[in-house]
Amino acid sequence: MTEQINSLEEYHKVYAESTQNPKAFWERQAKTFTWKKPWDETLNWEFETPKIEWFKGGQLNITENCLDRHAKASPDKIAILWEPNDPSAKAKKITYKQLLDEVSKCANGLKANGIKKGDVVVFYMPMVPELAIGVLACARIGAIHSVVFAGFSAQALADRVNDASAKMIICSDYNKRGAKNIPVKKVVDDALHLGCPSVETVIVHQNTAENCDFDISHDIWWHEAVNDQSTDCPAETMNSEDILFILYTSGSTGKPKGVVHTCGGYMVYTCYSFKNVFQYQEGDVYWCTADIGWITGHSYIIYGPLLSGATTMMFEGVPTYPNPGRFWEICEKHKVNQFYTAPTAIRALMACGNEWPEKYDLSSIKVMGSVGEPINEEAWHWYDQKIGKGKAPIVDTWWQTETGGILITPLPGITDTKPTYASYPMPGVQPVLLDAQGKLVEGNNTEGLLCIKYPWPSMIRSTYGDHQRCKNVYFAPFKGMYFTGDGARRDEAGRIRVIGRVDDVINVSGHRMGTAEVENAINEHKNVIESAVVGYPHPIKGEGIYAYIIADGHQGEDTAFAESVREVVKREIGPIAKPDQIVVVTGLPKTRSGKIMRRILRKIAAGEGDKLGDVSTLLNPEIVEEVKRKASEV
Ligand code: PRX
Repeated sequence: MTEQINSLEEYHKVYAESTQNPKAFWERQAKTFTWKKPWDETLNWEFETPKIEWFKGGQLNITENCLDRHAKASPDKIAILWEPNDPSAKAKKITYKQLLDEVSKCANGLKANGIKKGDVVVFYMPMVPELAIGVLACARIGAIHSVVFAGFSAQALADRVNDASAKMIICSDYNKRGAKNIPVKKVVDDALHLGCPSVETVIVHQNTAENCDFDISHDIWWHEAVNDQSTDCPAETMNSEDILFILYTSGSTGKPKGVVHTCGGYMVYTCYSFKNVFQYQEGDVYWCTADIGWITGHSYIIYGPLLSGATTMMFEGVPTYPNPGRFWEICEKHKVNQFYTAPTAIRALMACGNEWPEKYDLSSIKVMGSVGEPINEEAWHWYDQKIGKGKAPIVDTWWQTETGGILITPLPGITDTKPTYASYPMPGVQPVLLDAQGKLVEGNNTEGLLCIKYPWPSMIRSTYGDHQRCKNVYFAPFKGMYFTGDGARRDEAGRIRVIGRVDDVINVSGHRMGTAEVENAINEHKNVIESAVVGYPHPIKGEGIYAYIIADGHQGEDTAFAESVREVVKREIGPIAKPDQIVVVTGLPKTRSGKIMRRILRKIAAGEGDKLGDVSTLLNPEIVEEVKRKASEV
């Protein structure tokens, strides 16, 4: 059984041990899993190349740990509890035995359709059980899954499919989202038309009764591929450092990168962190509202909970359908014990009024989590008082796609909580703050760049197809450190508060967006000459997208033009990247070397145009007044 910390004293003891003797600590955790062959070396690492190997020489299959051992010990226990979009439709309860059978059938179906160990399968699906089943089926046979959030556009999907040279796409016909059925098979067809030469087969899960185009030369229905397969599928033997999955995330350059996670370390860390951060107890119902298209869904809907033998809920719908009480209704209906969501959802529901949570009995909730972006004090207190009624501790969990699991967080009921603070590191995690020159910032009541100085098992191993990029982005900035890209503050008690990104990445509703990526999309518009994108404080989304555009034939406020720019961004990336504010200008403030002065643009976007300081050293100081004036008009 994975160890669970029970007291503050124990946290201090375990933390000390895990940093003084990390190998012994992680070895002990790893031994609680089923390995086909024990590892020879617990950790081999250097952050120069970088090369990080955990449980080297060990062999395993993560699905045996997620499924087989629980299906044997408690076959009838609910593994996945699925709540559909339509509140009048029936919830599905899938036991560990049933899930093992379904995963095995799907795995056999994948094999029958030419998928082998090492092949990449892209998923473009809604939150239906088949998504979890498909992901686990890949893991069962050693295929690499790469889930693409189903809100991305055809172009963004094609970019990711091509970067990973995926052999198969698994999608649904339509996604049910609130009152709408969204035609996602069509997006896959459009992506294929744009050119995805590596894709041989598209498996389509029939999610609705609506018709969709179907090309029998490469499309195959999920039910035809899977339903008649055998429930027996031996788990492929995987080396600890074989790739488990790729997940694309945005960075400060235009092209998203495929973060690579491997089998052994990811398994050990997601399970350990799940059990400790949520203090999951036998029989609890755990619900994470994230989408499996993001890392939170991978680590804390699928792997962490299933590895722990937990009951994990998957919700197909949206928080406001059919009304803003839906989350709370579900918590009451399924007696949810741990509830994990994003600040953006909390703020959006807070804005809908207290009457919604007040209608429901939320007394089952023991622990509440927050993830994806800094949570502001007002939202923290509302969550604490109106949802947790002051008795369910909030775990403000800081982590990233690259970290694979939660690294900094309170432990509920064990360490104290302080609004907006992710607080203390998990066992085995050694965060440090650096100044811009890379010098260690010591002591408390300080700020700096957040780095991690020692490996943890679920950390990024590479960026798919381009290891150099992994080095450049995360390991080259500060020698011997993993650089997170975040700025942080340490308070008088050593608690850490993550303030936000220090690079050109913005965090919109908890989704990472590269400013360069959005600019590239905007520049596809036929009238756009140049653009600059920055983030600005947004009451619900945390950060909004603010675009300054130089355009041919357009001046000042032009709603039709702004709409046409948004359409182009939607086409290139997806609706989540559409700029909230668009200002058409005749020039952008630049340094003498021609670099756009984003600091100035950020201040103006934040409504702080009167706090710009000296701009006389700019190449074009005169443009600042124009930009300020136009920004004040939108
Ligand atoms: O800036 C941090 C912010 O989200 C970034 C990671 O985004 P992503 O890889 O999409 O993963 C999100 C889900 C794990 C971080 O670099 N972030 C995440 N959690 C927090 C946070 N910022 C402040 N507080 C958090 N709890």
